[in-house]
Amino acid sequence: MSFQLIDGKLVAKAIKDGLKPRIKALKDKGIVPGLAAVLVGDDPASATYVNSKAKACQKLGIYSEVIRKEASITQKELAEIIKTLNENTNIHGILVQSPLPKHIDELAITLIINPEKDVDGFHPFNVGMMFLGRETLLPCTPHGILNLLEYYNINPDGKEVVVVGRSNIVGKPVASLLTQKSKMGNATVTIAHSHTKNLPLITQRADILIVAIGKPEVITSNMVKEGAIIIDVGVNRVDDENAKKGYRLVGDVDFEDCKNKASYITPVPGGVGPMTIAMLMTNTVIAAENSWEQTG
Ligand code: GUN
Repeated sequence: MSFQLIDGKLVAKAIKDGLKPRIKALKDKGIVPGLAAVLVGDDPASATYVNSKAKACQKLGIYSEVIRKEASITQKELAEIIKTLNENTNIHGILVQSPLPKHIDELAITLIINPEKDVDGFHPFNVGMMFLGRETLLPCTPHGILNLLEYYNINPDGKEVVVVGRSNIVGKPVASLLTQKSKMGNATVTIAHSHTKNLPLITQRADILIVAIGKPEVITSNMVKEGAIIIDVGVNRVDDENAKKGYRLVGDVDFEDCKNKASYITPVPGGVGPMTIAMLMTNTVIAAENSWEQTG
């Protein structure tokens, strides 16, 4: 079967281009959307993500600040940084790059972020609103997946969706969004995870298979239905002597093995990753627009 590649870079560009007039309209009112990213420790993947986010801001004319702190930072010090950012009127969006060091209580930090500035959509207020199907700042990767499907005219209504992975960042929220009684919802969703028995039997049911488990190339063609739409959220670094950096990026799906069984499939990199950043930019613009509506 011939497959169509889902081009996340293309869709992300379209979304970011769509933000440009909104950013201009804000600037005409004297508001420059602003995003602060807090990076704790020296995890190279996290540093790469934060740099990509800052670069995307710069390209769009969104003000950005990256606050880098050592892994030894205390809970109190980190909490103070968030409180200061909550008060900073130049900052409309705050994100704390995950994962945080083990001694930091991540939920306690998330709870301090003003929900109106929570551009990751991780605050329990926003999680709850999303779960209720109300308008709110949505988590970037799940919302990005919905936008990818929409761009390619893939309507989840009535489809069997299998989400592999139950993380708070991707698995649980994407399953929630796809079951909503809404335009990009109405799917029948199964969440599979590490305790799922006979995973291939479950994944073979999927019209749309969304994989977010963070393990390289574990989904193979025997686990995929003919004609399935495959969304691969994984970004895994695997050692590769021939690569310039000494590693290459692969997804959670064995792309070469699965592609000929798929009708649509996302590549890694260039699939879901760019969409996460595009939706973060979108949330920052929304947060800035909302701030103006309240004070303007
Ligand atoms: N770590 C992995 N994905 C994300 C994300 O979307 N936001 C934040 N803050 N941290 C992450």
